Amino acid sequence: MKKTIIKILKHFKKPLVWLAELESTLAAKWSSAAHRRLLQTSWAIPPTPEFFDHHIDLNHLWEKSRLPFWLERGIFSNLALKRGGKMLELSCGDGFNARNFSSIVCESVTACDFDKKAIATATRKNSAPNITYVLADIRNNMPAGKYDNVVWDTAIEHFTPNEIEQIMPEIKHRLTPGGILSGSTIIEQETGEKLDTHEYEFKDLDDLKRFFTPFFKEVTVFETIYPGRHSLYFWASDGKVPFQDGWEHIVRS
Ligand SMILES: C[S@@+](CC[C@H](N)C(=O)[O-])C[C@H]1O[C@@H](n2cnc3c(N)ncnc32)[C@H](O)[C@@H]1O
Repeated sequence: MKKTIIKILKHFKKPLVWLAELESTLAAKWSSAAHRRLLQTSWAIPPTPEFFDHHIDLNHLWEKSRLPFWLERGIFSNLALKRGGKMLELSCGDGFNARNFSSIVCESVTACDFDKKAIATATRKNSAPNITYVLADIRNNMPAGKYDNVVWDTAIEHFTPNEIEQIMPEIKHRLTPGGILSGSTIIEQETGEKLDTHEYEFKDLDDLKRFFTPFFKEVTVFETIYPGRHSLYFWASDGKVPFQDGWEHIVRS
C-alpha cells in the first residue's frame, strides 16, 4: 500500500515541490514582515524593553544582517552545561536559550527574570516540560538550590559593578563543586553611548575577568568581533572549563 502511494506521488513530485517552495517562500516573507513590525512596535516606541524576543532574530534580523552573534551565547554556554544536570539561568529574558539550548541537554532548568513581561513571553513562547520560569530580582531574591551550571547571558551589563560584586558570592554559593558559571556581555562602544537599560559596559576582556577571579580558580574570557558588535563570553569554575586540558569533552595530541 505504502509502495503504491509513493509510486503515485513520484509522478507528482515536481508540482508538489514547486507548491511547497512557493508556500515556504511566501510564509518566510510574511513571517519576516510580521517580526519586523514586532521589532518596530516594541523597540521604536518608548519605553525600551528590558529583553529581546529572539524570534525576531530568527525570523527577520538574521536574514538581513547575516550576523550570528545572537546564537553564540546559546552555543558557548551549552558547551559548559553538564549533560543531565541542574541548571539555573539568571536574567533569562524571553527564554529562547533556555528552551532551544539548555533544556535539551539538562535534566532541569530554572530560569528567572525580574521583568514580568519577560517571564510572560518566556512562558508563552519558550516553554518546555523541564523548564520552570520564575519571577525574581537576582539582587535580593535569587532562586535557592544547588546547580551544576549557572548561566548569565547578556545581562551582567544591566547591573552596577557594586551589584555584580554582591551577586557573585550568591552564584558561587549555588554552584555544586566544579560547577560552571557561563555567560556573555558586550564591550563598551568607543563613543561611550549605551542603552538606557545598561548600568555598566565592560572596557575589555580583563575588565570583565576581574569580577570572576576572586571566586573561581579557572576563568576563561574570550571575545568575538563582527561589524557593529563586539561580544565577550566567560566560563568560570573551580573545576574544568571548556577547551581546558582535562575537560571531559576534549582530546589533544
Ligand atoms: C538583554 S536581556 C538578556 C536576556 C537573555 N539572557 C538573552 O540572552 O537574551 C537582559 C535581561 O536581564 C534582566 N534583568 C535586569 N535586571 C535584573 C534583575 N535585577 N534581576 C533579574 N533579571 C534582571 C532583564 O529583565 C532582561 O530580561
